Order: sequence, then structure tokens, then C-alpha cells
Amino acid sequence: MVVRSVSDSDSPQSPLWPLADDDVKDALLSAFADGSWGKYQGPHIPQLEADLARYLDVPHAFCCASGTIAVEIALRALNLPEGAEVLLAAYDFAGNFRAIQAAGLRPALVDVAADRWRVDVEQLEAAIIPETKAILVSHLHGDLAEMPEVMEIARRHQLQVVEDACQAPGAKIGGRQAGTWGDVGTFSFGGSKLLTAGRGGAIFTARDDIYQRAKVYCERGNHAFPLSELQAAVLIPQLAKLELRNQRRAVAVAKFRDATRHSETWITPPPAEGSPAYYKVGWYLADPTTREAVCARLKENGVAIDAGFRGFARRPAAWCRKAGELVQARRAAEATITLHHPILLAEEAELTRAVETVRQIAGG
Ligand SMILES: Cc1ncc(COP(=O)(O)O)c(C=O)c1O
Repeated sequence: MVVRSVSDSDSPQSPLWPLADDDVKDALLSAFADGSWGKYQGPHIPQLEADLARYLDVPHAFCCASGTIAVEIALRALNLPEGAEVLLAAYDFAGNFRAIQAAGLRPALVDVAADRWRVDVEQLEAAIIPETKAILVSHLHGDLAEMPEVMEIARRHQLQVVEDACQAPGAKIGGRQAGTWGDVGTFSFGGSKLLTAGRGGAIFTARDDIYQRAKVYCERGNHAFPLSELQAAVLIPQLAKLELRNQRRAVAVAKFRDATRHSETWITPPPAEGSPAYYKVGWYLADPTTREAVCARLKENGVAIDAGFRGFARRPAAWCRKAGELVQARRAAEATITLHHPILLAEEAELTRAVETVRQIAGG
């Protein structure tokens, strides 16, 4: 038997996550009892897809194997011409750049707004050229992209939009679920995510044609990138608790933000409008050269804070078009640190200890 240690994993894991919920245990035991754990088809995927669609208030949700493949399926379902250009922020999840390439499309990089992780909407519009056919926009590190503005630009220029809400399930923008502003949205159910099945993802859309194309692309005599019945079974009770847990996480984030508000070394971004969801809570360090030491010190003191994404600003020009100097995205890649979410649901004493550790190290 091979015993996997936490460090074998390819994504950050916390011993606090996933939580040992009784309703998840019941779902596992019941899937064992009725044999659905080992079946191709059972009741759990249809129920999860129906629950997701109801929760998000969209007609269609479709489960798949990961958030990474969800983004690619979403892009493919737009039915764009081969080689068409897709705008994305130069600071984003690495797999999103790759998903555009894998779908036979070409990434074009746009800067992010200063001190934030959202695409800069003014630069987004300025970056559009005749080859541009779509926008891939992500909600990152507790920030929310300005979806009303993004959609307005998209409509004016006849672009389609993939909205990546893998880090933000249950977030709301203008009262509407993050992920449902775009033509198609995506979730991740990866092992570190707010809704977790270890692996997994979903797309959701109000457009029948996108839903049909996504299903056809995945259909190879069977779903080629499936979520399993067992994975769906454990996600159903988690989805039912998402709102409540997001509210608790938001209360805890306010405490961390309060602790860093007056810091001269940590830059606390303005809160996103609407109701963010917190998977990785981001800050900028005023001095990026201190990042490794700051993260190490926090970890020594039991607070799971890591560097953010590497971003794409340094990618070779042969792979993508760069709209401008991408100054803020370069800075984001060097200066971002992110707090992993499990502490946000911790017992009061543990949370207070972590907040005080951050206050001390940030000098807030
Ligand atoms: C913004 C974003 N999109 C997509 C993904 C991919 O999700 P998965 O790990 O399920 O492939 C991630 C994962 O961290 C992410 O942060």
C-alpha cells in the first residue's frame, strides 16, 4: 500500500481541510450502502447539477473532473474560430492560460487594477482588436471582477465571456451569483477549495447552445471528464451549507483586514463591492523582496500564508499578445501573499491567535 503524505499533493492542503462534517460522512456511508459509490450512473450527479442550477439560478449546470478542465470546456463551448484571441488578466491561475491554448485559441494579456487582482476594465476595453472574440475573467483572492462593466464592454464589442468563479463559489456581485454574469461560469471542487470533493469542477450557463456544446464535447461514448457519483454525493451537503460558511468566513476576514489596516508593510486592498467569497485572502507586500521571509515566519507561527500566482507577464511574446506593460500584474506576481481559508472557520481562540500573529508580523 502506498501511503500519501500531505506534501505529495500538488495543491496546498491544510490538516484543517476538509472539515469532518457528519453530513458528508452520512453521504459517504449512504453511497456505500446503496452501491452508488461504484456506479457510472446514479442519483447524485443529477441531484448536484439540479442543486447547483437552483442555487445559481441558471437553467444548466454540468459537472466535470476539475476546475481546470471546466475552464477549457467552457471556452470550447463558445464555438470560437480557430486561433481567435481571448483576453485574460496577466495575473491569473496558470491553467487558464493553458486552457485557452488547449482550446486552439490565443491568449492576450491585460493588466490588473492597482492593489487588486481584478482585471483593469479600462485596459480591457483598450486591448480589444478585431481578432479578439472572448474574455476569460476570474475572481481571485477575495477580490471580485467588475462584472457589470465587463459584460457591458463584451456586449458592445460582441465578445463572449467565460467567468471563472473557481475561487469564489457563492460570491455575489450586484446581488447576482459570481459566475452567472458571463456567458458561462466555472467552479472547482478541488481538494483545497470551499466546496471540495478532492477533485472536480462544474460549468453553468443560461445558454442552451453552450450547455449542448459542452456536453457534446465531453461525450465520447461516456463523459470523458467526469465527476464521480461519490464525489457528487459529498458535494450535495456542502453546497447546502455554503451560504452560512461564506458568511462566517467574511466575519473572520474582517478581523484579519482590521489587523493589517494600519500596516506600512502589508497593503490591504479595498474590499470588493458585493459579497466576496474567501478561498485565498490576498494582501500586497510593500516590499516584495521580503515575501519569502514573511511567509516562512507566518508558517512557523502556524498561519498558512503563501505567495500568490506567478502570472503571465514574463511569458514569451510568441505565446500571447501583451496589451501594454502589465505593470500591476508584474507587481501582483511579486508582491501577493494569500491566506488559506480553513483558519476562517476555526474556533474563536484559534482564529484570534492567527489574527494576532498577522497583526504582529504585519506591524498593523
Ligand atoms: C481561478 C482558478 N481557476 C481554476 C482553477 C482550477 O481548479 P482545479 O484545481 O479544480 O483544476 C483554480 C485552482 O486553484 C483557480 O484558482
